[in-house]
Amino acid sequence: MSDAKKVTVVSLRNLKARDEKAVAVTAYDYPTAVFADRAGVDWILVGDSAAMTVLGLPNTLSIGLDEMLVFTKAVVRGATRAFVVGDLPFLSYQVSDADAIRNAGAFIAAGCDAVKLEGGRRVAGRVKAITDAGIAVMGHLGLTPQALGQLGGYRVQGKTPAATDLILQDALALQDAGAFALLLEAVPPESAAFIRENVEIPVYGIGAGPQVDGQLVISHDLLGNFVGTVKPRFVTRLANVDDVVTTAFGQYATDVRDGVFPAPHHCYAADPTGQLAIA
Ligand code: KIV
Repeated sequence: MSDAKKVTVVSLRNLKARDEKAVAVTAYDYPTAVFADRAGVDWILVGDSAAMTVLGLPNTLSIGLDEMLVFTKAVVRGATRAFVVGDLPFLSYQVSDADAIRNAGAFIAAGCDAVKLEGGRRVAGRVKAITDAGIAVMGHLGLTPQALGQLGGYRVQGKTPAATDLILQDALALQDAGAFALLLEAVPPESAAFIRENVEIPVYGIGAGPQVDGQLVISHDLLGNFVGTVKPRFVTRLANVDDVVTTAFGQYATDVRDGVFPAPHHCYAADPTGQLAIA
């Protein structure tokens, strides 16, 4: 990585102006943040997908603010260059402007550069309240997993021109409310391209095709350590961490059971002349 300067809202805007793609992954812990940062990833989302990827929950609805802040603090420590976006969990911004500002502020106090929240026109007022408090907000449209019940499942959004137009209205409302960027999840490439053409702020995609200002993937999908059956078609699995870890634990178990581990070179030398320290 040549340019170690911290990524900011300004540099993200400049990337878009130069028509260069921003690269983003999710991270929920310190080592992953360090590795992503070293690899030159531009922004990291501490996503509420941690509910599934890290906590083994069935969806994002039951992860809380306190849990998100633990993950966030770890990621912020590891991300020295990348821009860090904290994902406002369910019910941390839906109830009132005051709650939304306080909870968004907790992410900023934890070291995030921005927060993300789901929804369009119906949360535009919240976005304005949070941005008026001096906090950078990324909007999230298309498939919004916190509205799982309303959407009737994890379904592709914006498939028709009419549905795409509704997403565009949401996008414009968020832009007007002060959002610095948008994330589109699970929409057809044509719809994403149309929305991007009609707003000024950067539009990033996850499962939204190539004609956007950058790509986000969930790191567990990319690295192959997601436990479960979800295999999104829009991610190329570039590593098999699940196999590597399972094989390593299996080898360790065999070595212990066979008496091969620990070997002499794993052991500390005794000093017969010294006193035994009782620890
Ligand atoms: O929590 C998350 O990782 C997200 C992405 C799926 C967009 O919000």
